[in-house]
Amino acid sequence: MAVVVGVLTETAANETRVAVVPEIAAKLRAAGATVLMQRGAGDAAHFPDGQYADVTFGAAADILAQADVILKVQPPSLAEVGAVKTGAVIIGFMQAYARPDLVRALRDRRITSFAMELVPRISRAQSMDALSSQAAVAGYKAVLIAANTLEKFLPMLTTAAGTIRPAQVLVIGAGVAGLQAIATAKRLGAVVEAYDVRGATRDQVKSLGAKFVETGVSAEGAGGYARELTDEEKAKQQAVLEGRIAASDVVISTASVPGRAAPRIITKAAVERMKPGAVIVDIAAEQGGNCELTRPGEIVQHAGVKIVGPVNLPSQLPYHASEMYARNLFNFLKPALSKGELTIDWSDEVFAGAVLTHDGQIKHEATRKAVEGQST
Ligand code: NAI
Repeated sequence: MAVVVGVLTETAANETRVAVVPEIAAKLRAAGATVLMQRGAGDAAHFPDGQYADVTFGAAADILAQADVILKVQPPSLAEVGAVKTGAVIIGFMQAYARPDLVRALRDRRITSFAMELVPRISRAQSMDALSSQAAVAGYKAVLIAANTLEKFLPMLTTAAGTIRPAQVLVIGAGVAGLQAIATAKRLGAVVEAYDVRGATRDQVKSLGAKFVETGVSAEGAGGYARELTDEEKAKQQAVLEGRIAASDVVISTASVPGRAAPRIITKAAVERMKPGAVIVDIAAEQGGNCELTRPGEIVQHAGVKIVGPVNLPSQLPYHASEMYARNLFNFLKPALSKGELTIDWSDEVFAGAVLTHDGQIKHEATRKAVEGQST
């Protein structure tokens, strides 16, 4: 029997992406799978049902009851977990750190769950790296939000009415989102500078035509990520950055440290030193924000500065975000699909790294400690 891959309409608030786009539905079919989709699942991302060829449409309850593999963007709801076949596979962003109840339910229903955020960031798995694909969307969109919120031009203009000076953009955190933000702001003609605690980003920032802000702080952590700064390092960084923040028309902040709240980099005092009309777009809003004044999902006005705290930016560009995410999912799943059968090679470090629950156990060690350490 061919493996049945189920695709549900995302039900989380403001989620517009879909886990499988028509191109990937066709690839799943070519790999021997049967695709069972909820009617209208792609509508919000502008992929109407008619674009999906050779797919069977059904209601959510049928999909949950029949699918061997369920592909999701957001974590499944507890009701969905309760309704899937025992032993089914669910793949999506799982946000396990925030959802011990969900992890317990996945464990107890003996579901094999894979978290896309746990896919190891090794070269071989780059095509499966959903954190990166969605961060690129966020970095791009953040600059457009800033440009739209800023009541000034971004580029230099030479006109009969005189010359307009280009806007000054500072990008804090030059990871995947930050680099995309730099590239986007450059394309819009701004003068861009950027800062990151990882020295390895210096050349990447410069290669995009931006200036690297030197603070003398370097904080390379494990796995190529940043580590949390000491108080002394924070003060040193703050002294240089506050001057650069004050000089900026736009600040795009993207700084993040795995498993921790976002570092607080932009203080209220720093905001008060900014120019009237300046804009901060804080991509880290959902992780607590890089700016002390950020409120997720809101635009805060303080001392003439607008602080935008967007949530789920990829959902504001669902067509391409879904396309990229669906490719990531397919590249992850494909090695397990052979002649229409599902066979997971547990010796593969990608599957072994991304698995959250399997066979009645929590396989991801940090999650297991967090969940099973708590009283149930
Ligand atoms: P992230 O979302 O965890 O963090 C964003 C950025 O914030 C990072 O560049 C981090 O260094 C920076 N940051 C943290 N604390 C800061 C502070 N106090 N001040 C300023 N900046 C701060 O990072 P992301 O974008 O997920 O990528 C992180 C790393 O993973 C990078 O080394 C990247 O090259 C690597 N990576 C590797 C891939 C692969 O080989 N397959 C794919 C994607 C990323």
